[in-house]
Amino acid sequence: MKLTTIFAGARRQGNTATLLGWVEERARSDGHIVTRINLDGMKLHSCRGCYACARHEDRPGCVQQDDAYAVYQAMIAANALLFATPLYMWSYVGPMKTLMDRCLALATGYATSAPHRSLVEGARSALLVSCGGGIERNTDAIQLSFPRWEGYLKLSSHGIWVFPNCTTPDNLGPEAKAKALQLANRLLVQERSSG
Ligand SMILES: Cc1cc2nc3c(=O)[nH]c(=O)nc-3n(C[C@H](O)[C@H](O)[C@H](O)COP(=O)(O)O)c2cc1C
Repeated sequence: MKLTTIFAGARRQGNTATLLGWVEERARSDGHIVTRINLDGMKLHSCRGCYACARHEDRPGCVQQDDAYAVYQAMIAANALLFATPLYMWSYVGPMKTLMDRCLALATGYATSAPHRSLVEGARSALLVSCGGGIERNTDAIQLSFPRWEGYLKLSSHGIWVFPNCTTPDNLGPEAKAKALQLANRLLVQERSSG
């Protein structure tokens, strides 16, 4: 499978990057092709809300000329997408939210009478989140919004994987690593169809 990972954090050796690195390592050792996109430092402007993209269903159609196009292409080319963000203020880190907004350009017809189409329809997807606190009363906003966003893009959801109580990468420990490997399996191993 072609896996595109989209890393939104600023710390390239931090908790999120370490966890993501374990998933990518497993994916590569299982023979998958992995492409990582680091959003931090990319030229990624806010969505202008002009809806020019809504006129095109065969391409992203965003009028802005920035690095979003490279991200769109890597997303469209993938069979599986893994989004990775630290939890900031009970939500996504800024560049991740900006990308999510810009993905308006990847789907058409949502909540209208026109057919709902997506350029990434059917791709497997998951969200990896590291946070300093726990899961309850901390991650509720992303637990609600991410599946809705996956629905907007017609992605095939493979879960929100929260790694709570993160302090430093050195303290992540075997439990966190086991969970990261479980994520890789869930996202990349095809289920056998029954019958
Ligand atoms: C600006 C900022 C906001 C944060 N907000 C939260 C939060 O709402 N909930 C939480 O549990 N941790 C929060 N944290 C802690 C980070 O989510 C946590 O340390 C994470 O593992 C950092 O990932 P990184 O090492 O990849 O940067 C915040 C940290 C920063 C710097």
